[in-house]
Amino acid sequence: MTSTIPSTIRSICCIGAGYVGGPTMAVIADRCPGIQVTVVDLNQARITAWNDPDLSKLPVYEPGLDAVVGRCRGRNLHFTTAVEPAIAAADMVFLSVNTPTKTKGVGAGQASDLRWIEASARQVAACAQGHTIVVEKSTLPVRTAETVKAILQAAQGEVAGSGQPKTFSVLSNPEFLAEGTAIPDLEHPDRVLIGGEDPAAIEALASVYGQWVSTDRILRTNLWSSELSKLTANAFLAQRISSINSIAALCEATGANVQEVAYAIGADSRIGSKFLKAGPGFGGSCFQKDILNLVYLCGHYGLHDVASYWQSVVELNAWQQHRIARLVVQRLFGTVTGKRIAVLGFAFKADTNDTREAPAIRICQDLLEEGAQLAIFDPKVEETQITADLGVPPQSGNQVGALSGDGVWQVVNSPSEAVATADAVLILTEWSSFAQLDWQQLAPLMRKPAWLFDARSVVDSAAAQAAGLQVWRVGMG
Ligand code: NAD
Ligand code: UGA
Repeated sequence: MTSTIPSTIRSICCIGAGYVGGPTMAVIADRCPGIQVTVVDLNQARITAWNDPDLSKLPVYEPGLDAVVGRCRGRNLHFTTAVEPAIAAADMVFLSVNTPTKTKGVGAGQASDLRWIEASARQVAACAQGHTIVVEKSTLPVRTAETVKAILQAAQGEVAGSGQPKTFSVLSNPEFLAEGTAIPDLEHPDRVLIGGEDPAAIEALASVYGQWVSTDRILRTNLWSSELSKLTANAFLAQRISSINSIAALCEATGANVQEVAYAIGADSRIGSKFLKAGPGFGGSCFQKDILNLVYLCGHYGLHDVASYWQSVVELNAWQQHRIARLVVQRLFGTVTGKRIAVLGFAFKADTNDTREAPAIRICQDLLEEGAQLAIFDPKVEETQITADLGVPPQSGNQVGALSGDGVWQVVNSPSEAVATADAVLILTEWSSFAQLDWQQLAPLMRKPAWLFDARSVVDSAAAQAAGLQVWRVGMG
């Protein structure tokens, strides 16, 4: 699938205007003013939001994203639902569609659902003109490029409107950005990974990134190494979190302090200090899905012991979340039925409105199952999102139910509203504003004896104790 490639890329189309497609293309447009970048999506509401004149209404909340979009939109960055013309005009098409875990059929609960990748590859096959470089930006099981190539190959040679026969090159270029830091991650990446077989296509993509990323950070591999490196990177990162959370539980049992342990081991340059924060377990759209995908792939290739090794990382994560819910119940005299618990933070991490796989979901569900009355505050997450995540509607009105045994929840507008009359406050997201909470002012609003459960180790626990609260902090023995 090699062919003559335009030495300079002038027009890029990205299929998928989500958390990855939107910010990544915004930064490419910002750093490459000579390239027209069009981001397409089937979801009209999402595209409308990307085009909203009010930049605070973009569908993805990322610090700094509004400024980048503000600089480029309408100049060389466009958002549209008109998929076909955008593909036809492009020298390079990024596939940045969702790849969630399959929910039914073979591999349900583990394998990636590739229907959106296949649909977008078929759209490219149908609409492309002349030579098109197709870039896998989504996170994909190793060897997916084989499928993408087979679909494109079927259209190879057809002559479309341009009069040129269709030809394609396929590259893998996984994305390593983290939510909440997407813009700095894209502007100053640790590395950009390009996997492929066609040297000219690889160099064309490298020259796009080369407009702002130094050459030594642009890595080139074969297709399969690139696809597998993405799953492996996420699996290693998630494994560190499960490892430190397992040690946090041991710290609590033995009188050790997990922050001190993390600091001590992180000082070893072979281990490194990052990604060693104990907490309520990892959330986010990708860690769990990518490890499960790795587990599925290992099973597919008959590597069952390797599969169980990675499976245990996910199991430990779920255990940590159930453990936190259980210990809240235990400390509140073994029952939370009818008790108000203030939940501060619902997003899966700070600086994002994303709640996909957020630890708060499982922990809140466990507490609701125990009959708790949850008052949830998150500075960025909407009530409709929490309703979808918890699977039950919020309690109407402000009435706290009696001892009916049914758990209920409501969204409140501030931490002080959340803690009023509560028996406990539970911190589940490390929003920086939670570090500034004034416990002298908040503690008197609570019903005594009152607890602070800090699953993120962000609050000033000495100040909370001085204000009369009993404090549990993750990993503090
Ligand atoms: P997302 O769900 O936010 O966005 C995907 C978008 O693709 C949706 O808006 C959907 O409507 C659109 N889409 C699907 N099929 C389409 C089609 N045929 N034509 C047009 N639009 C279509 O997903 P995301 O979080 O941006 O993730 C995309 C990929 O990137 C996934 O594979 C994910 O694993 C990977 N990834 C995500 C992150 C992250 O931080 N979210 C980071 C790195 C990699
Ligand atoms: C993660 C990776 O960091 C990105 O490199 C990758 O591109 C992305 O997944 C993806 O493929 O989607 P993201 O999920 O956005 O990024 O956020 P992280 O900062 O990695 O945090 C993931 C979860 O781990 C969060 O719930 C966070 O609170 C938790 N975490 C992180 C900890 O509990 N402890 C830590 O030390 C670090």
